[in-house]
Amino acid sequence: MSSENPGLIWLDGKLIPWADANVHVLTHSLHYGLGVFEGIRAYKCENGKTAVLLLNEHVQRLINSCHIAGIKLPYTNNEVSEAIKLLIKENGLEEAYIRPLVFIGDGAMGIHPKDNPIRLTIAAWSWGAYLGDDGLDKGIRAKVSSYTRMGVNSFMTKAKICGNYVNSIQAKIEATSMGFDEALLLDSEGYLAEGSGENIFIVREGKLKTPPLTSILEGFTRNCILQLAEDKNITVEQQRFTRDELYIADEVFLTGTAAEITPVREIDFRTIGTGKPGPITKELQSTYFDIIRGKNDKYSDWIEYL
Ligand SMILES: Cc1ncc(COP(=O)(O)O)c(C=O)c1O
Repeated sequence: MSSENPGLIWLDGKLIPWADANVHVLTHSLHYGLGVFEGIRAYKCENGKTAVLLLNEHVQRLINSCHIAGIKLPYTNNEVSEAIKLLIKENGLEEAYIRPLVFIGDGAMGIHPKDNPIRLTIAAWSWGAYLGDDGLDKGIRAKVSSYTRMGVNSFMTKAKICGNYVNSIQAKIEATSMGFDEALLLDSEGYLAEGSGENIFIVREGKLKTPPLTSILEGFTRNCILQLAEDKNITVEQQRFTRDELYIADEVFLTGTAAEITPVREIDFRTIGTGKPGPITKELQSTYFDIIRGKNDKYSDWIEYL
């Protein structure tokens, strides 16, 4: 799925034409991978208005990622949030995937970025289902990756640091080139960590289980599921589990801003449950989709209208 050009990109405080949003080849982040980003979605709601999902939380995670990475972001949460809303409005987008990226500009070369400029860009475009409409509806096929999720003292997984995604890219390429839709990564001790860009849940005997936050991104969609499960009186255990427990799960699903709630119907050539999205996955998915489209007042604070 490619990003379509809606017209404008926000770069260093200005809205500029999409085609002009270029950087110098000596941009520090391009060479060494230190930059941080976010993935945010805005949806057209039932009332016809556009709302951004968990805007404040995403922008705060961008700021936290900078803090973890030791990058001094020269913008406040409010400034970044306003820039995001302005960009969606000025591009006339009713629905959008929004990608803020903080990166280190050109100047000094070598590993130490010295006082190279800290730059921020925000792009937004229309993006459908990340793992396909069919995936959302019928479930995807996944593969346990031969790549291990990176160690937590080397690559800090609470931050969305650009370089962390080299591990995800390798796993994703491996899985898709073998005909699967997504890769599932184990941590360095062999327990399930997460997908290449999603958190993971399994359902066994009516209970949900998801890996604890040790070596994974603290996903907002994961948090949404934890909240919905609690409100629906579904037990959730945040506990480590192994790949064989995946194979015998009744249901498996992935969560992420891009992937939303995507059922998994097959892993490593083993059918999961009945091979179709199970009842708990479907119920959580349907509640989530109602909330993000402004159809559920109980969770109206999850969305922010433009
Ligand atoms: C590695 C990884 N795990 C999990 C997630 C899910 O996080 P969220 O639900 O906040 O989008 C993402 C997506 O940002 C991710 O890149």
